[in-house]
Amino acid sequence: MYNLLKGKKGIIFGALDSNSIAWKTAERVHEEGGEFVLTNAPVAMRMGQINELAEKTGSQIIPADATSVEDLENLIEKSMEILGGKIDFVLHSIGMSINVRKGKHYTDQNYDWTQKGTDVSAMSFHKLMQTLYKKDAMNEWGSIVALTYMAAQRVFPDYNDMADNKAYLESIARSFGYFFGRDKKVRVNTISQSPTPTTAGSGVKGFDGFIAYADKMSPLGNATAMDCANYTVSLFSDLTKRVTLQNLYNDGGFSNMGVSDAVMSTFMGEEE
Ligand code: NAI
Repeated sequence: MYNLLKGKKGIIFGALDSNSIAWKTAERVHEEGGEFVLTNAPVAMRMGQINELAEKTGSQIIPADATSVEDLENLIEKSMEILGGKIDFVLHSIGMSINVRKGKHYTDQNYDWTQKGTDVSAMSFHKLMQTLYKKDAMNEWGSIVALTYMAAQRVFPDYNDMADNKAYLESIARSFGYFFGRDKKVRVNTISQSPTPTTAGSGVKGFDGFIAYADKMSPLGNATAMDCANYTVSLFSDLTKRVTLQNLYNDGGFSNMGVSDAVMSTFMGEEE
């Protein structure tokens, strides 16, 4: 532990259970000396084990539906009261597609579901940043991170409408990141993470094949939830002060691969 986040205060969205990337991140941020408020959708709290995480990290929990500006306003005001000042770091670790969940094909979408998924997975990031910005809730040199996936750039058929949601999310990071940087000296980035076995991840059709393929394609293998937590800690720390408007791959090298020997060998009838 390096005390990288000593004295820093933040908000962490999206810790549902101990597999969640946000859960691992909360644990690592705590180890590095950061203090934070945990938040999730009210419905997720009833299902989740967030109390256990709160106890472990000495944090308070404030429920908020990330699609509700009213909830976000309440969350941000209460967090500043609890933490005793402005915010240094925010993690947006939220994603959901009803089309994916209900097995509705990309070419046969239910647009009410599509819209709901876009609101939860992408527009919520704009709503969050706009609320932080209007309330002037971020300290200078603060850092905001959202999690994304490479289906925003390349085709992964079963990722369905989440691919479009992630493209939108990454665009919001750049567009809002400009104004947040210019006006408040706050940086905004997305981390594009390897497939990871979590509730959201495992919901994607054929996830087991998907994760095994990515692992075989990547020279360093898939990045784990813990790897993602560590990367996020670095982005919250003062060591990355002028990294902003970036989509940063945490994927063991997958995004720059064409093909690997391990994958080729499955087509050549040879063992690795
Ligand atoms: P997870 O299922 O543990 O976390 C998703 C979270 O979103 C849950 O805590 C859920 O309660 C929350 N959420 C859903 N609707 C919400 C709402 N209306 N308001 C507030 N919170 C809401 O899964 P995971 O994998 O940890 O997901 C975190 C992020 O990482 C997501 O953005 C996901 O798309 C992204 N990601 C995941 C990958 C994977 O393979 N698991 C790969 C790349 C990115």
